[in-house]
Amino acid sequence: MTDRTDTATANGETGAPLWLLAELTYRCPLQCSYCSNPLDFAAVKQELTTAEWIDVLTQARAMGAVQLGFSGGEPLVRKDLETLVAEARRLGFYTNLITSALGLDEARIHALRDAGLDHIQISLQASDPDVAAAVAGSAKAHAKKLAMARAVKDAGYPMVLNVVLHRHNIDQLDTIIALCDDLGADAVELANCQIYGWAHLNRAGLLPSQAQLEAAEATTQRWRQRLAERGRDMRLLFVVPDYYADRPKACMGGWGSIFMTVAPDGAVLPCHSARMLPMDFPNARERPLQEIWYDSAAFNRYRGDDWMQEPCRSCDERHKDVGGCRCQAYMLTGDPAATDPVCDLSPDHHLIEAARREAADDGRSAQALTLRNTRESQVFCRT
Ligand code: SF4
Ligand code: FES
Repeated sequence: MTDRTDTATANGETGAPLWLLAELTYRCPLQCSYCSNPLDFAAVKQELTTAEWIDVLTQARAMGAVQLGFSGGEPLVRKDLETLVAEARRLGFYTNLITSALGLDEARIHALRDAGLDHIQISLQASDPDVAAAVAGSAKAHAKKLAMARAVKDAGYPMVLNVVLHRHNIDQLDTIIALCDDLGADAVELANCQIYGWAHLNRAGLLPSQAQLEAAEATTQRWRQRLAERGRDMRLLFVVPDYYADRPKACMGGWGSIFMTVAPDGAVLPCHSARMLPMDFPNARERPLQEIWYDSAAFNRYRGDDWMQEPCRSCDERHKDVGGCRCQAYMLTGDPAATDPVCDLSPDHHLIEAARREAADDGRSAQALTLRNTRESQVFCRT
């Protein structure tokens, strides 16, 4: 994330979208209980075709986008991934594949490398195969991920692993980092579960306690020292969950500031969660990206600071954190223009404090997790 003050929008001008997240599909062989896809993802039909995606990439690059993430769902489900990677390379993007590794094999790794893919990030659920299976809804995925992580490294890519931490695996962080070390990882993102999408539905069963979080930070620090003593270059990035911060993040660097997501059906969003908000988003099938980015009501809705309410409106920090995350404000208060309740100046901060208190209850670990599924019709409801 970029500090809001670094962006052109802080001066009232809209800069170019530097990051494009191409959510190629919501389809996925896994069922992670913290998936950030919308709860009603199965209702999204008619994915963009190969030609439509190439048009999206071409338009975004012409607008100035330089970083391109291919994600999903599981982007490897798309048989045209290699074609899209090659086109992105030709256009001059720096490309990153964000994948579970399900659908990957050595032939495909080489095909993606030949197409010009710059970077692959593989997600791991846990070090313990049973925990991994319970969280992702697949008993076979864990071994496959480990094999593919090694194959990615053998193909000459830096091995970047992403582990989503939550109350069911955070106490095993020592063995998780040891596994990453054993695999030869170059970098590990220890990403505490952020509470969006399916993770919001499962918040009670996922949010770790403060004590768990502090122990995990200490474990990470011990590993950093141990790795440095061994001269082992494996970067550990520990991402603190919003629910344990006192100030919110400048989400996406600011609404419509540097980040643009295109969803599988062509919906154009300021972030991957925004389609749950009570507003309409334009579609790349119907309008040029340039027009959507600069002129649409959706992208202009939370730019600048005119939309802010108190306490943000008169706060000295409003250009630093832009009042936090619109999606989080909506999920917690029902008002997307509210101050993000993560902020301890927010009148709704008690909601965060209550969630922390609930997470301190050990009994919460027995809470059943709802796996991402297509069978239940899940509707967002205010907590
Ligand atoms: Fe940021 Fe608003 Fe909190 Fe001020 S009141 S620190 S602008 S979220
Ligand atoms: Fe949507 Fe933060 S995730 S604005």
